[in-house]
Amino acid sequence: MKGLKDKRAIVTGGSTGIGLATVIRLVQEECKVGILDFNPFPMTEEIAWLAPHIHFVQCDITIDDEIKNAVKEINEKIGPPSLLVNNAVSFIFKGVDASVEEMDMICQTNIRGTSRVTHHVVPYIRQNMGGSIVNISSVSGFVGQENFATYTATKFALRGLVKAWAVDLAKENIRVNTVCPACVQTEGFVRAIKKMGMTIKQAQINYGKTHLLNRIAQPAEIAAAVAFLLSDEASFITGSDLIVDGGYLAAIEKDIEKAFD
Ligand SMILES: NC(=O)c1ccc[n+]([C@@H]2O[C@H](COP(=O)([O-])OP(=O)(O)OC[C@H]3O[C@@H](n4cnc5c(N)ncnc54)[C@H](O)[C@@H]3O)[C@@H](O)[C@H]2O)c1
Repeated sequence: MKGLKDKRAIVTGGSTGIGLATVIRLVQEECKVGILDFNPFPMTEEIAWLAPHIHFVQCDITIDDEIKNAVKEINEKIGPPSLLVNNAVSFIFKGVDASVEEMDMICQTNIRGTSRVTHHVVPYIRQNMGGSIVNISSVSGFVGQENFATYTATKFALRGLVKAWAVDLAKENIRVNTVCPACVQTEGFVRAIKKMGMTIKQAQINYGKTHLLNRIAQPAEIAAAVAFLLSDEASFITGSDLIVDGGYLAAIEKDIEKAFD
């Protein structure tokens, strides 16, 4: 993709799922990538080829000093980043019965953590005279889903942050957008469906039906959209939401239309 070669990026939550797929895609596009994750990076044989192109720092994005030091270390190792992907997430799915601790935890990771990472990375992006930031939101940032209030609140907030940051940063040539997936087969997704007592096969079929394309996504399909928004191919896109949901939201609108037939 145009404009990614030799760029430096930071990806949060890059040890698994969409984050790891994004790291892989960006390295394929010839970027250098700094990764922040509180879980270790799984340097398996299959992805050992990434090693010369990445720098991993174990970091909890709910702890401000850890973020500050990690971003500084990445700058020293690979140079100042111009690209940022805010992907790390706390998955807590609760309705009005959510406890104070659950509400605090999800907000601390998804909203405060994302804001603090951006706070610490933007000064480096400025050194490049511009760049691009992507927040990973979700279809849950557009519609209500049963017992999802905790998660939904934070995914709407990530879209809000994008609108506000796009306004503030446009004059510095920094574009800010979201990518909004529906169901993606990641480690996080598999953990959630196992908790519900479902097998992966059942989840693929049941959740697949809620998407017009009749399947759930693979992480690389989301990473492709992230790479596009980070690249110069998206040079006139800022403050925007890129919905990568296999028709999930369109299908809901179709069902509503059916109800009034
Ligand atoms: N999987 C889906 O179905 C789906 C759907 C819509 C949106 N999303 C969004 O995509 C993004 C990635 O989701 P995923 O499914 O790949 O998740 P995942 O659980 O597979 O990966 C998330 C990563 O974030 C890391 N992380 C969590 N808290 C952290 C913290 N405090 N500090 C540092 N790292 C932390 C985890 O260690 C993990 O490596 C999230 O923003 C999620 O909301 C996922």
